[in-house]
This record gives sequence, C-alpha cells and structure tokens, in this order.
Amino acid sequence: METVKALVVEAPGEVAIKQLTLDKLGSGNVLIKIAYSSINFKDMLALEPRGGIIRDYPMIPGIDLSGWVVASDDSKISVGQEVLVTGYGLGVNHPGGFAEYARVPADWLIPLPSGLSLKEAMVYGTAGVTAAMSVIELEQAGMSPQQEPRILLTGASGGVGSLALQFLVKAGYQNVQALIRKDYQASLVENLGASKILLASDLVSSGKPLEKQEFDYVLDTVGGEVLSRLLPKIAYGGAVTTCGNVGGLNLETTVFPFILRGIRLIGIDSVALDQKKRQKIWSLLAKEWKLSSNEAVRVVRLEDVVQVAQELKAGQHLGRTIVEIS
Ligand SMILES: NC(=O)c1ccc[n+]([C@@H]2O[C@H](COP(=O)([O-])OP(=O)(O)OC[C@H]3O[C@@H](n4cnc5c(N)ncnc54)[C@H](OP(=O)(O)O)[C@@H]3O)[C@@H](O)[C@H]2O)c1
Repeated sequence: METVKALVVEAPGEVAIKQLTLDKLGSGNVLIKIAYSSINFKDMLALEPRGGIIRDYPMIPGIDLSGWVVASDDSKISVGQEVLVTGYGLGVNHPGGFAEYARVPADWLIPLPSGLSLKEAMVYGTAGVTAAMSVIELEQAGMSPQQEPRILLTGASGGVGSLALQFLVKAGYQNVQALIRKDYQASLVENLGASKILLASDLVSSGKPLEKQEFDYVLDTVGGEVLSRLLPKIAYGGAVTTCGNVGGLNLETTVFPFILRGIRLIGIDSVALDQKKRQKIWSLLAKEWKLSSNEAVRVVRLEDVVQVAQELKAGQHLGRTIVEIS
C-alpha cells in the first residue's frame, strides 16, 4: 500500500477525495485499516467553510472510526486486533476516519468490546458515547425508572437524540417525551419508544423565570433557545444535561430555577472523556444497552459523505449514518 484514499478538506469549504501518501496520516504508534466511520454534526461543521472545527489545513475529517490494527509499536496493541476510536483530536486536529487508514496514538484506542461488530460500534460512535454519558449523568443526579420520572429528550430525531431515546427505553423509562421540529419525524421517534411528542414550535415561554413544573429530567442535545425555554419548566430537584449547540450558542436564564427549585445543569463532553469511563460506556453499549433496531441507521460510502453532511445542515437527516470504508 503506497497511497490511501481519503476525503480531504484542503482549505475552508474545499473538499475532495484524494489518494494520499502514508506520511499524510499524522503521528501515532498504531496504524489502523478503517472498516467504518460515522457522520456527526461536528463532521458537517468540519466540511463547512466557516464551521470553526478545523484550524490547520489540509485535514481528513471524521471524528469516529473502527477497524483492524495493521501495525503497532505499542506492546498492549497487537496486529489484527479490532479497535475503535472516538473523539480526542480525531478529524479535528489529527487526520480522522474518512479514509482507508488512520495512524493514531495507542492511548486513543478502545479494543472492540465483545458483543459488538465494527459496524455496530460506528452506529454508536461519538453520538452513542454522548447519549450514554447523558443518561448516566441524569441517573447520578437521581433519575431512576422506579420513580417513573417525566423525561424530555430534545433533538430526538438526531444522532445523539435517537440513540439516547433507545437507551432510556432500554433502561426501563416509560415516560419519555420527544421534542422534534417536523411532523414527519414523529413516526421514527414513536417507533423508537417515545411516549409522547412535543413540537419545538409548541414549546412556548411565558417569559417568567419559573413556570409550571412539567419535566423531572431533560436530556438536551439542542441548546440555545430550546434549553433556555426549558429551564423554568424543570420540576423541583430535577436535572438537565446539555451536550449540543444545534439550536444556538447562547443560554438565557435567571438563577431562580437553580436557587428556588434546586435544579442542576450538567455539561457533557465526550471528546476528552477519561479512558476508564469510555471503556465502561462501551461495555454498557455492547451488553445491557445493546440495540437491536436498525431503524434509525443508514449506511453510505466515502463518496456520499458530503451529500449526507448537506442533509444534516439542512435539517433533512434522521438518526445515524455510518460510512462503510472497507
Ligand atoms: N458535547 C459532546 O461531547 C458532543 C458529542 C456529540 C454531539 N454533540 C453535539 O450535540 C448536538 C447534536 O449532535 P448530533 O450529531 O445528534 O446532530 P444531528 O444528528 O444533526 O441532530 C440534531 C437534532 O437537533 C434538532 N434540531 C436542530 N436545530 C434545532 C432547533 N433549533 N430546535 C429544535 N431542534 C433542533 C435536529 O432536527 P432537524 O433534523 O429538524 O434539524 C435533530 O433532531 C450537536 O450540537 C453536536 O455538536 C456534542
């Protein structure tokens, strides 16, 4: 193998499929032949001229990958091993998963947990880790199926949202309301287990700092105005996780939900998550929370990535899309 096929962002907004020599794969002590990658909101931003994700060009985007080790200088990682990588600098400041091969530091690798295929691992990818972290954090804040809490999940038709919905259902939660933007997204989230639908356009605000206590827990993937409108509606002692900014960067609130209702706002970051916690999450994804439905999953090729990113940008994408590379 002298050259490697890769999707390359040459300069802001300039994207092409190219043959690259191996020295363009960056530094690292493990070389991986990539089987699958996946397409996340952040990958869409990486392909955008003003996405704010990539700082040094050229760059191979793709924040997730799974594949086989073909060379390793690390005694803990052997040739032929099946592995996955999500986050760290992958596809952002280190050549990523939209290529036939990747070279990464051994510390970034998660050995593929037994019970998962390389393909299934990418159905989860960064989105699955983030969704699982959000559910775990809400449970640490007191959420449990026995209480039959009223849960609201925002961005429920998206990558993180559709997986979080399935994990909540799998974990035994029955009262999970899904916030979506468009009517046609309703059938997907109902099939995945949502008990009720809330349209984002119906999420009204009275402008008061505290409103009727409608939700015990909120798993938010949208941010911005949606999250701002929800904080006054959280019940006493409740909690909210926030992981995304698809709905905007700014959060408008008062201190009242926090100091008069004792609610908690919990930030989620999957990129720099500690390796031990990652492994725990992956074993949860491979066993207790393993999903059987492929309803919200599409498989495409490297040549289709730009088109899928356009769908994500236009709000025409549902669930998860994974990229079959080899
Ligand atoms: N913190 C972390 O570690 C981490 C990890 C992964 C992802 N994220 C972030 O989480 C967010 C979701 O990622 P994703 O990959 O799941 O994206 P996605 O697949 O594009 O899903 C986004 C979802 O949000 C909905 N949405 C977009 N704008 C909205 C608005 N203004 N009001 C209500 N709903 C809106 C979308 O609906 P439409 O299809 O109708 O637009 C879609 O259902 C992104 O901001 C991403 O960067 C963060």
